[in-house]
This record gives sequence, C-alpha cells and structure tokens, in this order.
Amino acid sequence: MINQEDYDMNKNLVNNDFADIVFNRHSVRLFDSTVKITRKELQAMIAEATTAPSACNLQSWHFVVVDTPEAREKTKKAVLKFNYPQIDTASAIIFIVGDTQSHEVYRDVWQKVYENHKITKERLDQIFGTFLPMYENATPDFLKLDATIDSSIVATQLMLIARAHGYDTNLFSGVDFENIIPALELDPKRYIPVMGIAIGKATEKPLLTDRYDAATLTKFL
Ligand SMILES: Cc1cc2nc3c(=O)[nH]c(=O)nc-3n(C[C@H](O)[C@H](O)[C@H](O)COP(=O)(O)O)c2cc1C
Repeated sequence: MINQEDYDMNKNLVNNDFADIVFNRHSVRLFDSTVKITRKELQAMIAEATTAPSACNLQSWHFVVVDTPEAREKTKKAVLKFNYPQIDTASAIIFIVGDTQSHEVYRDVWQKVYENHKITKERLDQIFGTFLPMYENATPDFLKLDATIDSSIVATQLMLIARAHGYDTNLFSGVDFENIIPALELDPKRYIPVMGIAIGKATEKPLLTDRYDAATLTKFL
C-alpha cells in the first residue's frame, strides 16, 4: 500500500487555483508528443488522486500507466479508433479499472486503522459486523457497480490533479470493453474497465462545451 507521506502533495502542484483548475478544464485530445512526464510524477499524481473517498474505504480502483511505444500499440488495439489521437499524442494514458475483489482485504484495511488507534475496538467490530457481510454476500453486479463508482470518483480527482500539475486531460471510456482488461494484462475475472485518462500538454484549444441549465436538472424535495 502507498504511504501517502512519501509524497509531499502540496509541493507537487504548479497550479493551486481551484477555480482555474475546475472551471477552465475542458477535454484536450491533441497533445505535444515530445513532452515526457516522469514515472515519479505520474506515480505522485496517482497517489494524490487516491486521497479520494470510496465506499467503506475499500478503494476499489487500480491503475495501469501506458507511457511506452510498445504499451501504446498494445492497448490501442482495445481502444476505439476515434480515441487514437489521444493515445498517439498524450505523454501518458492512465487506465483506471475497478477491482471487484477489494473487499477481500477489507479486514486488513480496518484492522490497520484500529491498530493506529484511530477507532475503538467497538467501532472496529461494528464495521466488521455491518459492512463485511454486505460485501461477502454481494452479487457480482453489486461489486461491479461499487467498483465503477469508486473508480469514477478517483478518475475525476486524477483528472483535476493533473490540471494542478500543469497538464490537460481527456477522460475516455470509448474502449473495447471485452478486450481492454486483457490488453492491460489484468485478470478479467477480477478487474472491470472504467476509464482512461490521456494526460499531457495541449497543442489544441479545447472546445468550450456548454452545459444544461442546472435548474432544469434539479428538484428540491
Ligand atoms: C464517462 C466519460 C466518457 C468519455 N468518453 C470519451 C471518449 O471515449 N472519447 C472522447 O474523446 N471523450 C470522451 N469523454 C469526454 C467528453 O466527451 C467530454 O467530457 C464532454 O464532451 C464535455 O466536454 P469537456 O470535457 O471539454 O468539458 C468522456 C467523458 C466522460 C465523463
């Protein structure tokens, strides 16, 4: 498990302007392919993104980084053609997949929290008594949905973290869902496809897409 303290999170950020990061973000699909992002920085961005919340803190996510010509060619075969420009030009593509077996280490995760004196024994027993049976008896559909939600949240955070590191992104799910997990050299019985994030320095001005009026999508109960 990553020790978050290994990464000095604030120092990594070149843009700490929340409004700029969030409101000026748009999908970029063409990048300067000569720009390299070090694996150290990619790993730091992933560590920063994993401060995201997750259901029961199960952290049902997993990351595969594609940053070599060989890996690009291999994964491209399982990506839809309209996403080739991002695959070809991004400094790196980080695939986020859902882990449907994350609950199998659930005891260890919360035992550690207890051993670090962050919760009482009563709270630990309560957590084990409430959530563990829920996951152990869950249907495959429940586990897939849970992992998809966690992974979508961490993907959103990673997309914004990348902006804070001075990069632009395109989040994409246009992949061949049958073949992407084997192409990422992962076990399809355990992992499910969620999202790819192309990261790099933009060479195009993104389209400034509009949104629906939020009031038309909102009901106050
Ligand atoms: C779940 C999801 C899947 C997406 N899949 C793709 C994709 O396969 N290819 C692509 O070019 N953009 C993809 N996008 C980006 C959207 O097209 C884009 O976010 C949307 O048009 C709004 O534009 P903006 O990101 O520039 O604000 C995806 C975004 C999300 C959230």
